[in-house]
Amino acid sequence: MVRKKKLLAALAGETQAVPPIWMMRQAGRYLPEYRATRAQAGDFLSLCYTPDLATEVTLQPIRRYGFDAAILFADILLVPQALGADLWFAAGEGPRLSTVTTPADFDRLSGPDDIHDHLAPVYETVRILSRELPPETALIGFAGAPWTVATYMIAGRGTPDQGPAHALKAENRPLFDALIDRITAATIEYLSKQAGAGAEVIKIFDSWAGSLTGEDFDRYALAPATRIVAELKRRHPGLPIIAFPREAGERYIGFARATGADCVALDNSVSPDWAAANIQTDGCVQGNLAPSYLVTGGSALIEQTRAIVRAFSNGPHIFNLGHGITPDANPDNVGLMIEAVREGAG
Ligand code: CP3
Repeated sequence: MVRKKKLLAALAGETQAVPPIWMMRQAGRYLPEYRATRAQAGDFLSLCYTPDLATEVTLQPIRRYGFDAAILFADILLVPQALGADLWFAAGEGPRLSTVTTPADFDRLSGPDDIHDHLAPVYETVRILSRELPPETALIGFAGAPWTVATYMIAGRGTPDQGPAHALKAENRPLFDALIDRITAATIEYLSKQAGAGAEVIKIFDSWAGSLTGEDFDRYALAPATRIVAELKRRHPGLPIIAFPREAGERYIGFARATGADCVALDNSVSPDWAAANIQTDGCVQGNLAPSYLVTGGSALIEQTRAIVRAFSNGPHIFNLGHGITPDANPDNVGLMIEAVREGAG
């Protein structure tokens, strides 16, 4: 009998004694082998667009730790670039993009169906990975959610409070809505190609969902996610989808039901016991160890890992962090975390 991959079983609603494990940013700078391949690529974007090297860094954490899932190595900002924005990574400063703040800027963007030549190397990476991964490892494709992607396109960089995006929304609502609509349509085409190339699960990263409140949350976090999920499931029946409305707080409640997502990923501001009682009742949840424990390690890491496993042990759960692992994390602590999950809630 062929057993279902652990990640897919959790997403299908199965409660497992030992939850599947993977980590956001599991291919990243905390790993010496990642830093070596990135140096070989020359820069971050070349790494993203060279299928053999992107495949290599995707596989590195699987080889080292045997995670239950691999996540495609790419970035949420490849979609704006495919739509025509300039994109570069200033060393030590994070991403920089040309901005979209006027109707003329918007009119220069390409259409949602015109992104595929630019993104072809990403689809090729997915195809290679789907051949090369161990049979028990699930392959996750991903994109940024429209609001989060829009915050970078409008500001031209990361911002602490997403101020420029909120300002455009207030000053020129039709332009803001048109941008969200364009990103949503492009994201559907992008993710659909990833699924066609072999991605078995899709994750939508709304890293800045927490700065949307009230009706704005409904319009710009819930509604675009709902549209993406519905269209992907229409084109790829049964495709499981993880939504990550980071720092949504109380708005995590009902998010999976409202959007049709199979799982919500929880950030580490949410208490596991509260989430088990209020969110896991709707189905699978993913999360939510604070990444800082992988820097500090020790008994606090073991205890918090066990507490999370225990809190979610009565329903479907995917063990993960509440946000991406940081470059200063100790790779040995990742091993300790995995041991603590796999030995059970003890
Ligand atoms: O999780 C994975 O291992 C898959 C690959 C992945 C990356 N970025 C690689 C990356 C994924 C899923 C992302 C998502 C992403 N990218 C998000 C959403 C998730 C989140 O973290 O909130 C966002 C907001 C981005 C945009 C982005 N990319 C920023 C702000 C930065 C700079 C900050 C930083 O950590 O340096 C990046 C760069 C980036 N994306 C790196 C990696 C491994 C580091 C680049 C390097 O190697 O120098």
